[in-house]
Amino acid sequence: MRVAVLASGGGTNLQALLDQCRGDAAARVVVVISNKPDAFALERARRAGVATAVLADHADADELLGILHAHTVEFVVLAGYLKLVPGAVVDTYSDRMINIHPALLPSFGGQGMYGRRVHEAVLASGATVSGPTVHLVNAEYDRGRILAQWPVPVAPDDTAETLAARVLAVEHQLLPAVVLAAARAGRAVPLTSTNRHFDTRNGPVEVRDHLESVGDR
Ligand code: GRF
Repeated sequence: MRVAVLASGGGTNLQALLDQCRGDAAARVVVVISNKPDAFALERARRAGVATAVLADHADADELLGILHAHTVEFVVLAGYLKLVPGAVVDTYSDRMINIHPALLPSFGGQGMYGRRVHEAVLASGATVSGPTVHLVNAEYDRGRILAQWPVPVAPDDTAETLAARVLAVEHQLLPAVVLAAARAGRAVPLTSTNRHFDTRNGPVEVRDHLESVGDR
């Protein structure tokens, strides 16, 4: 499955995808696209020998569709992409475009909820559990169908930074798991936990050992 990754920042989730989608993996990152020319995600792509593109106008659907079509992209991953994807692109890739969000949607999402703000809101709420969500992309920020979530405990002494780091470590396992499951199934499929005894207090567990594709059942 030919995958495009859209990223605006450092691209650690992109790196996880690059690392886990190579060799004979069912998915391959074929292009990395950014709205920011200096996004480190682009450098990660270059180092991995993957094509890159910088959008002149992130609101221009034709520009983005042109890049996706030029690379025969079958599946789009938003990994720290901070702009709204134009509606025509969402329509073209409906059910074939996912986003990763660093909290348990539908809480702590929506426009403006990104980065540190998400984790600050989780801490302010008193929630004892957080964790990443992977969901399909639709016209609204963070509102598409949820495909996978992974609970991560909130520690009493957490700061936004410590919580973000704990969640991010799990993101790096959850996102490739969803992409590879979609590649194997030929469509985006929900993943569910198969292990009720997961415990991430001592660091992330191997998510792939505990997830199965509902679509494969
Ligand atoms: C991640 O926390 C992701 O959930 C959110 O943006 C962040 C991107 O981090 N959408 P990185 O650029 O992949 O390191």
